Amino acid sequence: MQEIIRQLDEKRQKARLGGGQKRIDSQHAKGKLTARERIELLLDEGSFEEWDMFKEHRCTDFGMGAEHVPGDGVVTGYGTVNGRLVFVFSQDFTVFGGSLSETHAEKICKVMDHAMKVGAPVIGLNDSGGARIQEGVDSLGGYADVFQRNVMASGVIPQISMIMGPCAGGAVYSPSMTDFIFMVKDSSYMFVTGPEVVKTVTHETVTAEELGGAVTHTTKSGVADLAFEDDVEALAQLRRFIDFLPLSNREKPPVRPTADPADRMDESLDTLVPANPNQPYDMKELITKVVDEGDFFELQPDYAKNIIIGFGRMEGQTVGFVANQPLVLAGCLDIKSSIKAARFVRFCDAFNIPVVTFVDVPGFMPGTSQEYGGIIKHGAKLLYAYAECTVPKVTLITRKAYGGAYDVMSSKHLRGDVNLAWPSAEIAVMGPKGAVEIIFREEKNNPEKIAEREAMYKEKFANPFVAAHRGFIDDVIMPHATRKRICRSLAMLRDKQLDNPWRKHGNIPL
Ligand code: HXC
Repeated sequence: MQEIIRQLDEKRQKARLGGGQKRIDSQHAKGKLTARERIELLLDEGSFEEWDMFKEHRCTDFGMGAEHVPGDGVVTGYGTVNGRLVFVFSQDFTVFGGSLSETHAEKICKVMDHAMKVGAPVIGLNDSGGARIQEGVDSLGGYADVFQRNVMASGVIPQISMIMGPCAGGAVYSPSMTDFIFMVKDSSYMFVTGPEVVKTVTHETVTAEELGGAVTHTTKSGVADLAFEDDVEALAQLRRFIDFLPLSNREKPPVRPTADPADRMDESLDTLVPANPNQPYDMKELITKVVDEGDFFELQPDYAKNIIIGFGRMEGQTVGFVANQPLVLAGCLDIKSSIKAARFVRFCDAFNIPVVTFVDVPGFMPGTSQEYGGIIKHGAKLLYAYAECTVPKVTLITRKAYGGAYDVMSSKHLRGDVNLAWPSAEIAVMGPKGAVEIIFREEKNNPEKIAEREAMYKEKFANPFVAAHRGFIDDVIMPHATRKRICRSLAMLRDKQLDNPWRKHGNIPL
């Protein structure tokens, strides 16, 4: 038995070395951790249970028959993050560049299948050169097996991708179907085809960083949600992020005890909205002042900045926040911001996370680039997402709620549960100036008359009371009491039940 134990130990040591010390050193030299080091940082100490450590590829073509590395380029298993179960796969770039073979895919599929059975998130730490070139269609089939599971798991268990190295070809399509994509700056890339292919086909000269680096995907394409400085920061933030999420759609969102009183008043909110309606202010200030302990986990902070999305907690319970940002494009809704917020609302709805919406929106963005880009269809995504959403919805209008954007932003008409407004709210089809220019066009050469009409329109609509008279606004609240009023609303809604009619699935405008 002693000898057998010694042999097992030896086999484990070999498997732990992956592609060998030289390649590990090269991974470290690039500022990257190894697949196993990453798992150690991600999971609670000593909680990792590894599966399929000895699994090997079956390919014999192109010299692969002689090259077998136990584990086949991916470390898989389960463990805990702050005591809560998660499944994980971590691609090992030191083994055939982390490329995906048939058996590598089988290992990923195994953890995904178990995660679905028990109801726990799957976290992928991606570092892969894509399909294992030597395996041909076997590796393509392996990818498709993973893709199919990504789709089946969507809305059932949270799926999170951390991109920690090059991810090309098939390696980007599985992450793209997961709920959140995070990247590491300067060492991770995502592209369907790399710079060489781009040069050949489109004659563009572009570096890997420009084409698919973390900055590109968090500022230009919106593919990734956040970019982190290095592996260590990325994994620490991932642990913090997981704490906000329920383990599956069978659960309510987690509740963390907090010392922050639900009835905490904040007098500074009474002066947040400037007297001049055209002067911007920072909506993030409102979010951080109302959430528990000022702890807000913002997603996509550098993309479509005219809308803010992210998680916070109210009385310990996770809440998804969506808020127009008057500091950027006056908070207008455009194509990018509509898509950004729609996907977030749908995630919250799928995972029983209440949505709190802060509104200050002058409308949808006008212009040819928006119309040619399909703002009608893309703006409708956000409308659709809010309308189908059945989780508790609490909305607060701080200032402007004009036009279609008023309807879209979780209005009473889209089954908003509690709709509040600050006294500074203005709810109308459009701003007074634009309205008067249209309905009193014949008086346009009479500035005095126009000013008078504008004042009239303002008097009528630049307040929340017309909407409150109709019951579209449940109450006009003091800004300093915002946290208390939202906490109470959410507590009242905790056991909300609302079902949409049965259907195979809706047909959201894609
Ligand atoms: C097999 C691979 C590999 C792959 C890398 N390697 N990619 N082996 N299949 N796809 C191996 C290399 O041979 C090398 O082996 C080791 O991994 C490290 O690779 P390097 O090139 O030395 O590393 P680096 O310079 O950092 O470059 C990384 C890279 C590059 C950018 C990922 O390797 C690369 O471009 N690889 C090919 C990417 C690609 O075209 N993949 C197929 C995409 S098509 P040694 O033994 O020297 O250490 C696809 C289709 C799926 O994925 C579609 C599904 C929808």
